[in-house]
Amino acid sequence: MELQGKRIVLGVTGGIAAYKAAELVRLLGRQGADVQVAMTAAATHFVTPTTFQALSGKPVFTDQWDARMPNAMAHIDLSRQADCIVVAPASADFLARVANGLADDLLTTMVLARDCPLLAAPAMNRQMWESQATRRNMAQLAADGVHLLGPASGEQACGEVGAGRMLEPEEILEEVIAFFTPKVLAGRKVLVTAGPTFEAIDPVRGITNLSSGRMGYAVARAARHAGAAVTLVSGPVGFGPPQGVDRIDVKSALEMHAAVMARAVEADIFVAVAAVADYRVANAAEHKLKKDAGGVPPIELVENPDILAEVAALKDGPFCVGFAAESRNLEEYAQAKRRRKNIPLIAGNLIQDGFGGDDNRLVLFDDNGTHPLTPAPKSVLARQLVEHIAHLTGAA
Ligand code: PMT
Repeated sequence: MELQGKRIVLGVTGGIAAYKAAELVRLLGRQGADVQVAMTAAATHFVTPTTFQALSGKPVFTDQWDARMPNAMAHIDLSRQADCIVVAPASADFLARVANGLADDLLTTMVLARDCPLLAAPAMNRQMWESQATRRNMAQLAADGVHLLGPASGEQACGEVGAGRMLEPEEILEEVIAFFTPKVLAGRKVLVTAGPTFEAIDPVRGITNLSSGRMGYAVARAARHAGAAVTLVSGPVGFGPPQGVDRIDVKSALEMHAAVMARAVEADIFVAVAAVADYRVANAAEHKLKKDAGGVPPIELVENPDILAEVAALKDGPFCVGFAAESRNLEEYAQAKRRRKNIPLIAGNLIQDGFGGDDNRLVLFDDNGTHPLTPAPKSVLARQLVEHIAHLTGAA
C-alpha cells in the first residue's frame, strides 16, 4: 500500500471526466489513502455525491455553508487535515478561478485557504486548452507551485482529437504516489534492463526463460518515483512501460547489448534485472524448420556478451547493480557473480521466489555485507533497493 496513512482531499469539478474520478477514489483507497471528496455544483451534474460517498465511505462536501461542520468552516477544516488536495478533473473554469485567486465556492475557497500541496489534472476541450487565456492561467498556476498532472492527448468526449484529455485514473494515481516519494535519485540518469531475452532458432521458435519483467519494471518505476530520468531496456513482456519511463523494446541478448551499450556512458546508475540468455543460436534458420526434413535439427550455441560485466568495465561508467537468481547457495553464488562482474552491489533471489509473481524475497550483497530484505511485493522491494542504491552512491 503505497499511500498508507495519506489523507487526500479529492476535488471534483464539472466535466465529463468526473465519472473517472469515481475510479480514482477506489484506486487511492486501495493504496491505503484516506480520501475525502469535495465537489463543485457543476460536478454534481455529471456524477452524484452518493457515488463518491459509497466509494470513499464518507459524506461528500459540495457546499461552503455545509451545516455538518460545527464551526461552518468546511473550507478551512477539510484542507487542514489533508496531506494534499488532488483536483481531478480540473475544469478550465476551476483552473482560471484558482489562477486568479477567486474563492467563490467550497473548492476554490478550500484551495485558497490550504496549507498543503495542490495537484490538478486538467480536463477540457482542446481549443479551451490551447486558448491564450488557459495558457496564461496554466503558467500562473505553475509559477504558484501547483503540480499539474497532464493533460493527455487523444480523442475527446466532444469527438475532437487533441490535448486536454484528463490523465487516466491509474496515471493520476502514479503521479500521486510519485509526488509522495522522497526524491533520493533527483537529477540521476538510471538505465534498467528487464524481462527475458528471446534467442531465435527459426522465424517462429526460440530459446527464452520465465522472467515476466515485473521485478525490472518495478525497479524502473521506483527509480522514476525517486526523481530519476529512467530508461528501461526491455525484453518481450506482456505489459506497458511504467509512466514517465522511456522504454526501448528489444528481443535478443545482442539487441539488449546494443541498446544498453549505446546509453551506458550517459547513465549514472545501471541496474541489470533482465534474465539475459547466456547463449544464442549460432545457426538460426532463415526459414521455418520442417519436421519432415529428417532428423533432429542441429542447434549450435554461441556465448552472448555479458552486458553487465561490459558496462562495469567501462571507464567512467555508471554505478552498476546486478541481480542473481539461484536455485541454491544464494549467498555463495551471488557473491561470486558480484566479484566476477566487478560490481559494487548485487540483489540475490531464489528462482522460486523471483520469477513470475508479484512478490519476491531479495538479499542485497555489497562491500558492507549482507542485507536481507523482508519478503514483499516487488514494488516495495524495488523502492528499498532504490533507497539502498541512493545511500551507496551518496545521493541520500
Ligand atoms: O522478471 P520477473 O518475473 O519479475 O523475475 C525477476 C528475476 C528473477 C528475473 C530477477 O529478479 C533476476 O534475478 N534477474 C537476474 C537473473 C539471473 O540470474 O541472471 P544471471 O545470473 O544470468 O546474470 C547475473 C546478472 O548479469 C544479472 O544482473 C543479468 O541481468 C546480467 N547479465 C547476465 C548475462 C548477460 N549476458 N548479460 C547480463 O547483463
